[in-house]
Amino acid sequence: MAVPTRLPVAPAVPFAPPAIGQDEIDAVVSTLASGWLSTGPRVQEFERAFAAYTGAPHAVALNSCTAALHLALLAAGIGPGDEVVTTPLTFCATANVVLHVGATPRFADIDPATANLAPAAAEAAITERTRALLPVHYAGRPVDTAAFRRLADARGVALIEDAAHAVESVSGGRKVGTTADYTCFSFYATKNLTTGEGGMLTTASEDGARFARIAGLHGMSRDAWARYDRAGSPHYDVVMPGFKYNMMDLQAAMGLRQLAGLARRLARREAIWRIYDEGLADLPVTRPAPVAAGDVHARHLYTVLVTPDTGWSRDALIAALAARGITTSVHFRALHLHPFYQARFGFVRGEFPAAERVSDTVISLPLSGAMPDADAERVVETLRQLVLGERA
Ligand SMILES: Cc1ncc(COP(=O)(O)O)c(C=O)c1O
Repeated sequence: MAVPTRLPVAPAVPFAPPAIGQDEIDAVVSTLASGWLSTGPRVQEFERAFAAYTGAPHAVALNSCTAALHLALLAAGIGPGDEVVTTPLTFCATANVVLHVGATPRFADIDPATANLAPAAAEAAITERTRALLPVHYAGRPVDTAAFRRLADARGVALIEDAAHAVESVSGGRKVGTTADYTCFSFYATKNLTTGEGGMLTTASEDGARFARIAGLHGMSRDAWARYDRAGSPHYDVVMPGFKYNMMDLQAAMGLRQLAGLARRLARREAIWRIYDEGLADLPVTRPAPVAAGDVHARHLYTVLVTPDTGWSRDALIAALAARGITTSVHFRALHLHPFYQARFGFVRGEFPAAERVSDTVISLPLSGAMPDADAERVVETLRQLVLGERA
């Protein structure tokens, strides 16, 4: 039976189709033919290229951002009894990993203008048990890394950044990836740089990078490439009970090509962003704020807040868009409103009002480095008809 090469019913405007070109396909095919599929020379090359791109002294390639976050917490010495201050407006992985190391996430509210963790709220959430700050560059908009660095240093805690959305981001003139003790990137299928699944940890700490390499591969003192290399020795020591978090060469081959095309794809994202900004300017929705001077926004997610003035509830508008072939998403339902976090920590509605407002009203519109202008124009036209036309 023939394997279909496309989804059986592709939406007219998909949410975040990956921007994969012939370069990526050729790189993966030649890796398949190379005889080395898992962690090897292409992973090493991708790590070097990513370190050079960000300016970080060390980059460790992993199989997800979740893995990078987990290893960053462990490398920073976070464990049972400790607290980590983070935002409730994030993907569950950000807080789940804090629980994986036996620590407790302490949420602090966002700045409503940026949807990023507010430094003042983070400061107010610090207790004598706090060991790390974990801000998230929401949607690709960089957090004020200088403010978080000052706060972390003043309180003697680690700064770990969740940069899942922020490969290209720059904060106050400094590249994200160089501003924290540990920075964690995602290369998941919808991300600006994708390897299907994948992630990267960057750090200036040589010890931290060495720890992440060992803890991320079973706690073994040497990786397979070193063991099976022509000059290699088959022996290794297990020095800790580690995890299986390594990236494959198949992924790194794709990542190298994706990294090379990052600027071109960001330009496409910028073009879509402008179409949305201009086309939605007079609608009663809240659009993303302008980018602060000295910052680069990675344009990962274009989010609108559906205000009551639109005459629509958020979920009804999502359904109406879907019925017209436009796939959208929600980033994010605030973590303190999820059943696990409510049951475990007793959170109730009203504790983080700014995050709740986004959680209740946000829609992420289609956006991708592979998206033509015509798709964005169709999204604008459909939204305009729904919000202005159908009420008339
Ligand atoms: C803010 C944030 N953090 C972490 C992650 C986890 O990334 P990964 O799927 O690479 O583990 C995601 C994934 O979408 C995310 O959006």
